[in-house]
Amino acid sequence: MPKKTILDFKIMASQNEKIAMLTAYDYPSASILEKAEIDIILVGDSLGMVVLGYDSTVPVTMEEMLHHTKAVRRGAPNTFIVTDLPFLSYATSQDALLNAGRLIKEGNADAVKLEGGEYYADTVRTLTKAGIPVVGHIGLTPQTASQLGGYKVQGKDLESAITLNKDALILEKAGIIMLVLEAIPKQLAEKITMELSVPTIGIGAGEMCSGQVLVWHDLMGLFDKFVPKFVKQYESLGTLALEAVKSYSKDVKESAFPIDKHSFSLSDEILNSLYNKKQNLEE
Ligand code: KIV
Repeated sequence: MPKKTILDFKIMASQNEKIAMLTAYDYPSASILEKAEIDIILVGDSLGMVVLGYDSTVPVTMEEMLHHTKAVRRGAPNTFIVTDLPFLSYATSQDALLNAGRLIKEGNADAVKLEGGEYYADTVRTLTKAGIPVVGHIGLTPQTASQLGGYKVQGKDLESAITLNKDALILEKAGIIMLVLEAIPKQLAEKITMELSVPTIGIGAGEMCSGQVLVWHDLMGLFDKFVPKFVKQYESLGTLALEAVKSYSKDVKESAFPIDKHSFSLSDEILNSLYNKKQNLEE
């Protein structure tokens, strides 16, 4: 399968063909996503929470995003990759240009994602003019969750719904190629999706978005610190992994692993000589 392009995603959205995006942070998961022909891989800064064990996405660094983007690219050479710009890496347009440039040039990402509305329109313009495709992200923006009063649904009252609607239109005008809508009422997501010509990707934003995104660890049941309402766990890999590790530990302690089929052998001839040699040395 050839790598899908920004144009493909626009056409898919205009023809109501849904876009499937999923996060990946390493080589093995990226390889699985590419085999499954997922449309877009997001190297999300959710990395900080689900892989690195931070309490939020705030501490995630550029070096961490780069390191994981490179691994994902090695696992998925033919999939469109979007990488998150981490917190404070795009506080000024100059920072954004430098850091987004690194994710594209060194990390081999196809696009970068940044969180925020109207305030970031200039940054989006700067990156777009420089040839860097930008994905927007509004609604619940985890990097600034503390300012939003926690991980809460956004756009529920008229004023905030109007602001989000306006942000979406302004970001589109500034040049975004796609917009992630996180944790907003589905009717608002539908209105925004209808008004934009670029695809919307929802996470907790209902079924009317152009596509959906989930976090790999949520989908696989590998992260149970908290499970938001919008998550569908397709597997319980955390439970399976726990059972596998317990079985391994038990086998080791009971000498049930390794057995012959996991071991290498010397021929009898070499073995005898080896023991004889030892004896000779002792004589
Ligand atoms: O970091 C991430 O995984 C994200 C998704 C939740 C959209 O931004």
